Amino acid sequence: MRIEENFSLEKWNTFRLPVSTRWFMEYADEEELQKILRDEYFQENRSIHIGSGSNLLFLNDFNGIVLHSAIRGMEVVEETETDVILRVGAAEVWDDVVAYAVSAGWGGIENLSHIPGEAGAAAIQNIGAYGREIQEVIVAVEAWNQLTAEKRVFTPEECRYAYRHSFFKDEHNDPYIITYIVIRLTKAPQTFCLNYGLLQKELEGKALSPQRIREAVIGIRASKLPDPEVVGNAGSYFMNPVVSAIDFEKIKASYPELPSYPAADGRVKLSAGWLIEQCGFKGKRYGSVGVYEKQALVLVNFGEASGNDIAVLAESIRNAVRNKFGVELMPEVKYVG
Ligand code: EPU
Repeated sequence: MRIEENFSLEKWNTFRLPVSTRWFMEYADEEELQKILRDEYFQENRSIHIGSGSNLLFLNDFNGIVLHSAIRGMEVVEETETDVILRVGAAEVWDDVVAYAVSAGWGGIENLSHIPGEAGAAAIQNIGAYGREIQEVIVAVEAWNQLTAEKRVFTPEECRYAYRHSFFKDEHNDPYIITYIVIRLTKAPQTFCLNYGLLQKELEGKALSPQRIREAVIGIRASKLPDPEVVGNAGSYFMNPVVSAIDFEKIKASYPELPSYPAADGRVKLSAGWLIEQCGFKGKRYGSVGVYEKQALVLVNFGEASGNDIAVLAESIRNAVRNKFGVELMPEVKYVG
């Protein structure tokens, strides 16, 4: 087990905020995790579990325990003529999992290429891109209840997946720590998802394979999203808002060009990036923070920002969108403060 005191989290959050934590603890396996969960000091102190910090906004130094998993590994636990079932340690870098699957020729997660973060967090967040969500391949999620220090294996239904949401994000549920995810990938026949216009355009007339789709997705992402290694950011800062059909019609009457997508239960998903751009924020810089020039849904740290600076910009964006469109934007990024 790795234990560090007064530990810098600068490399552990993709906004690259220079915050620190009182304690940083990294467990190597489930036995070590169980030991931590049963420890009195852990039980009595504030803690958060992080992945690679690609969806976090630290508002201050963290006066508690930051937990991180070092459980890695990818193991084929079942293989048929058509499918492969892969069990993945929660601390595997998600894109390494995608690269591994794609290099083996297995399909199902190629559209989720280059999404920052670790496998466990990907299953909590229900990551999605270019027409696919991780929930479509989840077979099981292995997780530990932080209150009872007991393990439970969740079925996909028990994970209660929805757009960027799962059981694990719901504050009313007991807090769980994911140690492994189990996913189903396809060998044959493979069906590819080219719903996303740009992806379809890019691949038109070409022979499809997981590898080919991965390459196209990586190209599209690079053209729209900033690399956190170059400029601090956490991808989409807000979720795309889902509104009622009635509210959608009202907004559409004033803004006929409003981009929209069908959502569950007859509701309509709007493009937060479009709403933000209409409010004039795209490409604007305010001191050390700003809105990315190629995608208005991404807030960036130009180097000297604090978490608070970013939160203040986010709040003024929310106010502007609320005033102009009557739509409430909800952060996808999790605030820690
Ligand atoms: N748009 C604008 N201006 C902008 C950005 C977007 O007008 O600055 C409009 C355009 O009409 C565009 C539409 O919004 O066609 C959709 O934009 P884009 O394809 O970039 O996707 P998004 O809805 O903004 C979502 C995900 C991304 C994911 C892409 C592709 C959320 C919150 N974000 O963004 O996920 O990569 O779709 O599938 O659902 C992330 O979660 O961090 C993330 C990057």
